Amino acid sequence: MAYETILCETKGRVAIITLSRPDALNALNTQLVGELAEALTGYDRDDAIGAIVITGSEKAFAAGADIKEMAPKSFMDVYREDFAANWDVAARCRKPVIAAVAGYCLGGGCELAMQCDFILAADTAKFGQPEITLGIMPGIGGTQRLTRFVGKSKAMEMCLTGRMMDAEEAERSGLVSRVVPAADLLTEAEKVASKIASLSLPAVMMTKETVNRAYETTLSEGILFERRVFHSMFATEDQKEGMEAFSEKRKPNFKNR
Ligand code: HXC
Repeated sequence: MAYETILCETKGRVAIITLSRPDALNALNTQLVGELAEALTGYDRDDAIGAIVITGSEKAFAAGADIKEMAPKSFMDVYREDFAANWDVAARCRKPVIAAVAGYCLGGGCELAMQCDFILAADTAKFGQPEITLGIMPGIGGTQRLTRFVGKSKAMEMCLTGRMMDAEEAERSGLVSRVVPAADLLTEAEKVASKIASLSLPAVMMTKETVNRAYETTLSEGILFERRVFHSMFATEDQKEGMEAFSEKRKPNFKNR
């Protein structure tokens, strides 16, 4: 599939999607979000893919939603079309999605990164929710997801002032899983994605679903959900293979079903 605003490639069982609107620092517009949604849905359905990386350029993961596209819209425009309701493209994916972030990761860009399962940051990464400086506020999860990642005080300060956080602060605050030198970002992201993609796909998908459950439910319901999913894993061939391989001191050969 030929896209105009993203580049797609696969390396083994890893799919890499590169946001590519260099003239607009990868700002998210309707076309880009549509193409990203289509590519993600395709990889999510593709048995040959076990993990997905979303990345941007050295200068920007994405500098937000496209301000020039949004500027002329009226309240009735955005309300009637329910603007951005379907921009939770990465959050809808059932396979693991890793955000590999260098440079600016702002507004809708930061919100897209936070929809991913974890964020690997280059030491050049800068995170922020600058919408307030445009007379608006985050619209695809920023006020909710950032608060869950970094806590109320820091999320509130960032959303109310538009202040950017550097990579070191983002790691310290729990927004990103790890910071790596910018030159190593993609190699590291591919390495961690291929590690995940080499494991049992049903186990990986169920684990992702169960960790995400922690955000949606009480502790006791979450633990019950975990135990039920854990029990169901004993119906998979991969559980037999994984445990037999351990006993036989060999590498498992997962069937992924
Ligand atoms: C449209 C953008 C853009 C954006 C940058 N550009 N960000 N275009 N939407 N979000 C364009 C610029 O207009 C410029 O185009 C080119 O990209 C390069 O940007 P510069 O500003 O010249 O680069 P620089 O001086 O290095 O500054 C980088 C920057 C700045 C600090 C990241 O571009 C910036 O502040 N961008 C806006 C960040 C922002 O407010 N994001 C939140 C958007 S609202 P030209 O043609 O002039 O060369 C949002 C809402 C999400 O995300 C929720 C709703 C769905």
